[in-house]
Amino acid sequence: MKKINSEAHYLRRDPRFKLDEDLILPAETRVQINECLAKLRHHKTIYMDWNFSSVDPLGMGTVLNFYGPPGTGKTLAAEALAGTLGLPFISIGIAEIESKFMGETAKNIQRAFAETTETGAVLFFDEADTLLGKRLSSVTQGVDNEVNSMRSTMLIELERFEGIAVFATNFAKNYDEAFRSRISYHVKFDLPDLQARRSLWGRMLVREIPIAGEREEFIDWSAELSEGLSGREIRTCMRLALPKPLMHAGNGEARLTLDHLKDSIHQVKQAHVEIGSTASEARSSARDAAITKRMLGIDSDKQ
Ligand SMILES: Nc1ncnc2c1ncn2[C@@H]1O[C@H](COP(=O)(O)OP(=O)(O)O)[C@@H](O)[C@H]1O
Ligand SMILES: [Mg+2]
Repeated sequence: MKKINSEAHYLRRDPRFKLDEDLILPAETRVQINECLAKLRHHKTIYMDWNFSSVDPLGMGTVLNFYGPPGTGKTLAAEALAGTLGLPFISIGIAEIESKFMGETAKNIQRAFAETTETGAVLFFDEADTLLGKRLSSVTQGVDNEVNSMRSTMLIELERFEGIAVFATNFAKNYDEAFRSRISYHVKFDLPDLQARRSLWGRMLVREIPIAGEREEFIDWSAELSEGLSGREIRTCMRLALPKPLMHAGNGEARLTLDHLKDSIHQVKQAHVEIGSTASEARSSARDAAITKRMLGIDSDKQ
């Protein structure tokens, strides 16, 4: 087993976002987030002043699970939660696991929890199904042991944790039951409804962008046409649309038209149809298996 790096490498930063300003959610998800916020804000009152910790010692920490389709704002919400609470943000994602945690995962998890406790940060595990999942049926005994040791470290740390941890996943069903029961709030992230899409388009259609037409009309049309797209895909639409007017402007003034937006929405929807959700799930679980192997220092070529 390769040991590449014994140092924990994860991102600790002052959050760049806030829930109210940066996150657009369907009403139902918003209510759930507000309930989490209330628990977090009144934690001291409930557990210390009202002494609820005497009957619920495990409830001292708050573990949230954000689950739902990709691109719906889970990663953004975790950072924005820290921003709204005015706490630092420690983020551990796939990239850190892949490149830095190899063979040292359990120790690094301990370090991350320790630093979180010291700094009072919000600890975030992105794409957490790789960490908390129950699959790995196809790997060897030695690997199973390594994974199990990493997962029991996680359980031990969570059990005595008194801070705020957030997990995010596209595949909540893969969580092991032992983890599921330690999660205080499961918050479901859905694709944006019409009203949320309107807000997303309003946000993405930054006021400085020169447009040929009525802004409201652009937003109405785009929100209607982008049904089924996630927030991230709406951003992708904008990324695709913005070069279009510049490409054809010549010496004249470049202005975004409704057709540019319609074209880019069509492009993104077309990619949906061609790639399809089944294919992307299969790819993603193959990718998870590959990541787990790499994380454990197994050369996949030799399998
Ligand atoms: N609910 C949302 N509100 C605001 N922006 C969003 C939302 N969902 C997605 N976005 C945009 O898409 C980007 C990627 O979203 P992200 O939080 O990474 O999604 P997830 O973690 O669910 O895959 C965000 O940084 C933001 O620009
Ligand atoms: Mg994410």
